[in-house]
Amino acid sequence: MEKEVRAIILGAGKGTRMCSQKPKVLHEIFSKPLLGWCIEAIQRLGNEIQCIVIIGHGAETVDTYLNNTYKYVRTTLQKEQLGTGHAVMQALPLLGDYRGNVIITCGDTPCITTKTLKALVTYHNQNESDLTVMSAEFDDPTGYGRIVRNQKDEVLTIIEEKDASEHIKEIKEVNAGVYCLNWEKIKNAFTELKNNNAQGEYYLTDIVKWARLNSCKVLGYKISDNSEIYGINSRRNLAEAFNIINRRHLNELMDSGVTIVDPNTTYISPETEIKADTTIFPNTYIEGKNKIDKFCKVGPMARLRGGCEVGEGSKIGNFVELKNAKIAKNTNVCHLSYIGDAELGSDINIGAGTIFANYNSITKEKQKSYLEDGVSIGSNSVLVAPVKIKKDAFVGALSVITKDVDSASLAITRNNQKEIKNWVKNKKEKSK
Ligand code: UD1
Ligand code: CA
Repeated sequence: MEKEVRAIILGAGKGTRMCSQKPKVLHEIFSKPLLGWCIEAIQRLGNEIQCIVIIGHGAETVDTYLNNTYKYVRTTLQKEQLGTGHAVMQALPLLGDYRGNVIITCGDTPCITTKTLKALVTYHNQNESDLTVMSAEFDDPTGYGRIVRNQKDEVLTIIEEKDASEHIKEIKEVNAGVYCLNWEKIKNAFTELKNNNAQGEYYLTDIVKWARLNSCKVLGYKISDNSEIYGINSRRNLAEAFNIINRRHLNELMDSGVTIVDPNTTYISPETEIKADTTIFPNTYIEGKNKIDKFCKVGPMARLRGGCEVGEGSKIGNFVELKNAKIAKNTNVCHLSYIGDAELGSDINIGAGTIFANYNSITKEKQKSYLEDGVSIGSNSVLVAPVKIKKDAFVGALSVITKDVDSASLAITRNNQKEIKNWVKNKKEKSK
């Protein structure tokens, strides 16, 4: 049986350069906090992987977010931020005499993928390593800890930029800040860490030296895609990470047969699945979990806000917003509409400017609407939820629908058209 894996995620730091009242790890990419990206990359490694998040700055808000969102996540408070090694020390009591592997990552590195974490753990296991440090080669390694190897290419130690000599600073292989530990073997390192360095901090990186002194096997696992370890320190970094995550997903979609007309103006959250032969037109923004089937057309200028399903051959056109909307096959929502909390059948036509009024701002409740197959909604109608429009029913333009409509009926709420003969002519004659 594979060794159990647990994770420690460091997230107590302040993130001064974000210039924000919000803890750094709660800043969002596609409406998901940075910490969420890190946790989910780890949790996709297997079922019920336990994560321990080290919290500090904004601890209460971070804790609330985690409790409300994740099941297998525990938090522990690092009251004072005395360094990355000190942060990990806080997890010791929670792990007790746990004997499996522990992955350590940072909560501000949202671009890391499950694939790479899996490769790290596999490499660690296959080589019977006790401590595996993820590394990367940077043209400009400034700011990172440098990986120091001996002539046999073994990892000897990690030296932080602030403690590095000019000679060490020339090393281009850097510590990615992601580690896999054989916990049983390495845990004692944490009770022996010292803070006699340039920053007066307890460095997590010092476990490398400790491991070698204590006859543990230390390996480096070098990755080739540096974007995976892109860290967030500023709003500029946040925008760049958004780009990395978005671009990576757009490329995967295109490789699997989805047409993205203009990747430069298209934003699709990685949690959105799209089948081959669907086309996404420019200026489309899709966030959260959605499923779009084959032969659909989405955009230009469409917005999907999560919980949406779009069936085969359906069209979601310009200035259309969807939220929690399930739409079956060959249904058209081509212009200027909002559909929220609704289920739509197939072969439906939604006229331009149709609004699903799903929210009661007094009770703060949302209600659902149901449209059966073949329904047609005239332009500029409002469907006030909860409402059900049965098979093949027809709603006249500009109707405000507050009651269910029977199958194959016409529902219309606007006044009949009036015509006053010669009205213009009479007016003009009077004003002479
Ligand atoms: C760290 C590594 C460095 C590596 C780099 C990769 C150390 C000593 N250095 O440096 O070798 O190249 O990451 O990005 O580990 N944190 C806490 N509590 C603390 C201090 C930090 O939770 O007391 C958290 C921060 O919130 C952050 C993470 O640990 O998420 C990393 O801390 P940071 O100060 O950014 O480390 P670096 O100086 O970047
Ligand atoms: Ca630091």
